[in-house]
Amino acid sequence: MRKRIFSGVQPTGNIHIGNYLGALKQFVELQEDNECLYCIVDLHSITVPQASQELKKHILDVAALYLAVGLDPKKSLIFVQSDVPAHSELAWILMCNSYTGELSRMTQFKQKNRGQASAPAGLFTYPVLMAADILLYDSQVVPVGNDQKQHIELTRDIALRVNNTYGETFVVPEGRYLKAGARIMALDDPTSKMSKSAENIHSRISLLDDPAKIKKSIMRATTDSEGSVRYDLAEKPGLSNLLNIYSAFSGQSVDSLVEQYAGGGYGVLKKDLVDVIVSNLEPIQQHFNDIRHSSELISALSEGAAKAKEIAQKTMVRVHDRFGLGIRRAGK
Ligand code: AMP
Ligand code: TRP
Repeated sequence: MRKRIFSGVQPTGNIHIGNYLGALKQFVELQEDNECLYCIVDLHSITVPQASQELKKHILDVAALYLAVGLDPKKSLIFVQSDVPAHSELAWILMCNSYTGELSRMTQFKQKNRGQASAPAGLFTYPVLMAADILLYDSQVVPVGNDQKQHIELTRDIALRVNNTYGETFVVPEGRYLKAGARIMALDDPTSKMSKSAENIHSRISLLDDPAKIKKSIMRATTDSEGSVRYDLAEKPGLSNLLNIYSAFSGQSVDSLVEQYAGGGYGVLKKDLVDVIVSNLEPIQQHFNDIRHSSELISALSEGAAKAKEIAQKTMVRVHDRFGLGIRRAGK
């Protein structure tokens, strides 16, 4: 059965293979048999300061990458969050139904805030805006990386709470996590996740990296001194991360990779992995360069926003009605 799918990526530059394997790859698979909305969540990105010219560029970069990895605007709605004002409106209403206690427990907030006594209020309420993104479209499934699990659980809690208090209002969504790409770790430190903002550029492989950079990052990736190819997340997190990346890009199982490379050292595996990544990213980069400055990109985004607005409007009529807000929509 066709399902309503929603997900979002922040336009903060450096979209990396963790984003691709954890999220974007699922987006493409899902668009074939479902009704999908994929958003560029620019309002989330300003929870930390952004230079406006950079942000404008990054919004179009992510949009172009969406198309470059295979999203088809004829099948999926692709749009920018701030082009649909209802996201912010619903976020306020949900904030009135969220608790500071539950928001204080969000690990992403704790990490970004790094124990400071005071933080931008938007950083604190970030997960509520995410809940609004999802609930606004009656989304049933949300494909994301593992790091978003806690935010999805919060979204479900808020939806159930509102439904219990105000009557059936929201669809309660489910997260969808891929096995192989759910959590790609940093290449220089396999105990932390690959991130867009880490200082060391060799900690990640960005989707737009050239082959020389990819080779450098993989060849210097942290492994261990044991020298035998085994999958062991606890004892050999670096090598296991490389095996996960290899498996996710090639479709070959980790077990069969271990068998294939068992006799050799890490060097051979790393060299082959470079080839696998380069050959997967080349067509994406080609497509990206073809469309990044095209009018096709802009029209996909404006059509996406117009259609998203229509769906959002229907939900907001329902929400206003349940909460008793406004007079404009009374009686509808
Ligand atoms: P963000 O970069 O925070 O906008 O994340 C966009 C999407 O990529 C979300 O679905 C994340 O869960 C996913 N993601 C981010 N980092 C990773 C990672 N290291 N491994 C797997 N998925 C990730
Ligand atoms: N918080 C998500 C992240 O950092 C991005 C995001 C915002 C999102 N709104 C969303 C993901 C709605 C899925 C659904 O990766």
